[in-house]
Amino acid sequence: MSKTNVAVFVSGSGTNLQAVIDSGIESANIAVVVCDTPGVMAIERAKKHGIPVELVNSRDFRSREEFERQIVAKIDGYDIGLVVLAGFMRIFTPYFIGCFRDRIINIHPSLLPSFPGTNSVRQALDYGVKQTGCTVHFVSEEVDAGPVILQAVVPVTGEDTEETLLEKVHAQEYRILPEAIRLFCEGKLTLSGRKVLISS
Ligand code: GRF
Repeated sequence: MSKTNVAVFVSGSGTNLQAVIDSGIESANIAVVVCDTPGVMAIERAKKHGIPVELVNSRDFRSREEFERQIVAKIDGYDIGLVVLAGFMRIFTPYFIGCFRDRIINIHPSLLPSFPGTNSVRQALDYGVKQTGCTVHFVSEEVDAGPVILQAVVPVTGEDTEETLLEKVHAQEYRILPEAIRLFCEGKLTLSGRKVLISS
């Protein structure tokens, strides 16, 4: 099977990166990990698996676009077919999105369009919803608003704390992110307006 070269972008602990690595998707080759924060655990995870890491520290750049141009230059040689944002804490400008149009996906810890932005699990808990979850979606210019690829539901109980709920949401992320990557790399996702059609 031919493999799609995937770039996974991270900023922190990289547990989603780990889930993607561990799921051993046949149609995907994790060609490079891009990280914007020195010293994070995600870098160690990539190195342990022999995956090249490109560290591009956003603090070294005067503007977001300069930062993004540096990332694009760094990953230029990897022939990237898919960019996966797995806990990458930067918002892209139209420049970067245009470089990888319809080839950037993100994992978000809520059932979008509910609770976009940061602290989504806390927001869901505070709102009192009975169900939350996670979403894998294509990235568009609007934050957390691109076409939905997969979602997983997590029930919220009266006993849940932010910590317990986060753990349950993460468990679902580790399932649907690799699945979405597999579907993309096998050519099973088709965009129709803001809908994503999944073929079997
Ligand atoms: C995940 O909860 C993801 O939904 C959000 O950032 C978190 C990343 O965690 N976008 P990790 O770095 O994969 O452990």
